[in-house]
Amino acid sequence: MVSQLTDAYARKFYYLRLSVTDVCNFRCTYCLPDGYKPNGVTSKSFLSVDEIRRVTRAFATLGTEKVRLTGGEPSLRRDFTDIIAGIRENAAIRQIAVTTNGYRLARDVQQWRDAGLTAINVSVDSLDPRQFHAITGQDKFRQVMEGIDAAFEAGFDKVKVNTVLMRDVNHHQLDTFLAWIKPRPIQLRFIELMETGEGSDLFRRHHISGDSIREQLLARGWIHQIRSRSDGPAQVFCHPDYAGQIGLIMPYEKDFCASCNRLRVSSVGNLHLCLFGDGGVSLRDLLAGDSQQEALQARIASALAHKKQTHFLHQGNTGITQNLSYIGG
Ligand code: GTP
Ligand code: 5AD
Ligand code: SF4
Repeated sequence: MVSQLTDAYARKFYYLRLSVTDVCNFRCTYCLPDGYKPNGVTSKSFLSVDEIRRVTRAFATLGTEKVRLTGGEPSLRRDFTDIIAGIRENAAIRQIAVTTNGYRLARDVQQWRDAGLTAINVSVDSLDPRQFHAITGQDKFRQVMEGIDAAFEAGFDKVKVNTVLMRDVNHHQLDTFLAWIKPRPIQLRFIELMETGEGSDLFRRHHISGDSIREQLLARGWIHQIRSRSDGPAQVFCHPDYAGQIGLIMPYEKDFCASCNRLRVSSVGNLHLCLFGDGGVSLRDLLAGDSQQEALQARIASALAHKKQTHFLHQGNTGITQNLSYIGG
């Protein structure tokens, strides 16, 4: 019998977000404006494929159905396809997803799908190539668009796109985004900018609530859909004239954390109970061999007793989270 991770607030955890590297080749203004800086973690210290296989097996035994691979940029790992294949060995994990900046999609997406990847989220903050370049520090808009096309060609029937909503940058571009998803089965999610340790100034200048987007959508006949249990935090809207959907991720909204269903493991094997929390619980000493699975499950289950009811972002408390590339958003 598969047990089910449950916390003190009766929330159930089906969904693991596993970061496989801190390294990123983009320099998004809200995340790594000065680019990735190694912090003593060399590529050798990121979890190996065997460690990833073991940690995901322990989570699967504890009821995890979905694993999302994050980073940094996860596809910068040369063994990324092997990571997907290693996780797929756990039959209980029915969904293996990735969140990527899209840079390697055109080249590798077919290979990832063949290895067992079931879902893709791609970050696209602007549909204007110059603005895309200004936000990400990389002139790769066309490459990312070709990557999204390649994902459909490889057989994914839907792609999710993440757009960080920023006042005076893209908050007035709803019509452009809507025109883009009209013929395409893309779920475009506007994410409210979250304050991080390094991003306070940017947050003050550009944070805007998703409320105004929600009002515009409802006024134009978009319909709010019901969320299924291993979905992420987006409120999803659909419209009969559109192949695509719009999602809103609003972490500052009341009760955002009430539906939390995910835990995180960083690329060096620390379990984080919240995106904005403390240093995490190291699992790494229990990942060296197959014989420690029970101890690993016990450590994960007991750590969960300390999960807090909500983040403390409203009080400006971002925990240790300097930027989201560290534990993968
Ligand atoms: P799916 O619905 O499974 O596609 O997942 P998702 O939307 O959670 O995944 P994705 O990696 O695309 O994340 C989108 C945005 O949601 C990112 O900006 C994440 O940082 C944010 N996010 C995801 N989970 C949480 C969470 O637990 N708390 C907060 N505050 N933000 C989150
Ligand atoms: N606020 C909101 N979203 C962010 N992301 C990264 N940093 C932030 C932030 N400060 C998003 C990226 C990516 C996802 C993993 O997290 O755009 O799509
Ligand atoms: Fe890289 Fe993602 Fe951070 Fe952008 S948001 S710099 S793509 S880790």
